[in-house]
Amino acid sequence: MAILVLSHPLPSEPFADALRRAAPDMPVWTEQQPPPSPDAVEAVLAWRMKPGVLPAYPNLRVLCSTGAGVDKLLAAPDLPPGLPITRVVDPQQGVQIAQYVVACALHFTRDLPLYAAQQARAEWRRHPVRPSERCRVGVLGLGAVGQAIARAFLPLGYPVAGWSRRPQDVSGVRGFAGPEGLPLLLAQSDILVCALPLTDATRGLLNRATLSQLPQGACVINVGRGEQLVEADLRALLDEGHLGGAALDVFEREPPKPDNWVWTHPKVLATPHIAAQAADDVVARQCIEALHAVRAGRRPQHAVDRAAGY
Ligand code: GLV
Repeated sequence: MAILVLSHPLPSEPFADALRRAAPDMPVWTEQQPPPSPDAVEAVLAWRMKPGVLPAYPNLRVLCSTGAGVDKLLAAPDLPPGLPITRVVDPQQGVQIAQYVVACALHFTRDLPLYAAQQARAEWRRHPVRPSERCRVGVLGLGAVGQAIARAFLPLGYPVAGWSRRPQDVSGVRGFAGPEGLPLLLAQSDILVCALPLTDATRGLLNRATLSQLPQGACVINVGRGEQLVEADLRALLDEGHLGGAALDVFEREPPKPDNWVWTHPKVLATPHIAAQAADDVVARQCIEALHAVRAGRRPQHAVDRAAGY
């Protein structure tokens, strides 16, 4: 009895190797090395799930995500009721995402695209540095990742605010919460960072109506999920000049098609979902811990609330 890795489209071998390192006596299978019988599978480690797969494993006790987000797993139409689902909580992932977001924010706030264009023309021209008070950062989502992002901005002297479903107290960060807090945060975010989980409440949250509430020239950084940002609305606001730029690490469709406007838009910095990845060893350790927990009749530490969606 043990763990089956179905991490497609991520390669399964690095996860399988990490599981074997962490628990040498635990049988570990993959699509390429399938289990001897479906009865043997107690835990599945996966990123997304095709319909019809999970019900084939009658002794499945826990479904573990290979990442921090579980939206792709929760979208499976045939999740066995009551099956615990876990996410990865890797502090290094928060650090990496914060690094990525700060790099993107500085790209915009320190006018790096402008200087790159000048360099291409061999043009030596200096522009005033934007004062910190005009680089107000607003972070949507104050979970582990959102908090890491918010904290990373504090030493730069930028005013930082955060928005969450329920009020959160993060030292040095001005907090807004709930539907009534969102317009307040938007109106004062020169840099808007999306670090929300994808749920029914956050799907399409960043659209023409909400993005228009950002101050003129604001920049958007999305490290949440592509489905939270209506890309056509973003494009219109960039073209109309209301928004100054966007850094996108996640997209409505991944990868975006080669002719998608995001690849070539002069105000867009597009990266292939690389802001952060949980370390294979952490993924493996937390999957094994989750299996031990359910075997002992306990709720795994990083089990998600299916109704909340994260
Ligand atoms: C990455 O997007 C993750 O959910 O870990």
